[in-house]
Amino acid sequence: MQSTGQAAQQISVVTGCASGLGAALVSSLLERGHRVHGIDVRAGEESRICFHACDLRSVEATEAAFARIAQREGDIDNLFNFAGIRGSKASVEQISAQEFAAVLEVNLFGTFHATRSAVPLLSKRGGNVINVGSILGRSIVPGASQYIASKFAIEGFTKACALELASRGIRVNAIAPGTVATPINLQAFESYDALMAAYGSCYPMGRICAPQDVVDAALWLTGPNAAFVTGQVLYVDGGYTLAN
Ligand SMILES: NC(=O)c1ccc[n+]([C@@H]2O[C@H](COP(=O)([O-])OP(=O)(O)OC[C@H]3O[C@@H](n4cnc5c(N)ncnc54)[C@H](O)[C@@H]3O)[C@@H](O)[C@H]2O)c1
Repeated sequence: MQSTGQAAQQISVVTGCASGLGAALVSSLLERGHRVHGIDVRAGEESRICFHACDLRSVEATEAAFARIAQREGDIDNLFNFAGIRGSKASVEQISAQEFAAVLEVNLFGTFHATRSAVPLLSKRGGNVINVGSILGRSIVPGASQYIASKFAIEGFTKACALELASRGIRVNAIAPGTVATPINLQAFESYDALMAAYGSCYPMGRICAPQDVVDAALWLTGPNAAFVTGQVLYVDGGYTLAN
């Protein structure tokens, strides 16, 4: 059980808050009465959060952002590591070393930097870390080795942290979404309909993933009904990884 009582306002930190899944999560957290600190390289449209401009690839910038959060809040309840990039479609021969590294630097090292900075703030109350994997943390497609490597790594990192932090009451889990119509995909596909036409039939449940599917899974994992769940990767994929 978390040490926070039902009535206490929850304090959540969301990386990647400016766009896509992070922005959708922020809306749901605010609806539920959380106080939200958002971290991103760029500001989003939500004005009701405390925003921290920060490139998570930088240890110093990430530590400074969490120092500001600590100064303001003392402790926090939840860290949602939602920032991520995909990189371009390229074979392992084509991709540059810089681009391969850039994806690992955001998706893996950014998650590590934020988690390491957040743990002291989570420790006093117990709390949650939610990382974001992907169906490409299990299924393989060509032309995405950098992204696939980062998402396989996220699963291992999640489990390693969960074991280390369990005795301190901190649960660490990941969600692994299927294809969602967010800017990370809409760069390659012009519209939701185009994305759905390309990928919908890959999903046994007949549609791609909605942002709210991911948000609801993340909220369930941080809530009291998942109080004894840690080190798990929850696939939110309408059966994709059963079939592919
Ligand atoms: N959209 C999908 O289909 C899908 C599927 C599976 C997993 N995911 C994962 O979900 C997460 C969120 O993706 P999304 O779809 O919301 O993408 P998105 O592009 O809409 O949002 C990602 C956010 O991360 C921020 N960001 C990028 N680099 C950063 C950095 N160095 N420091 C701080 N912030 C940075 C961006 O500014 C952006 O606001 C990613 O980890 C992605 O891999 C997405």
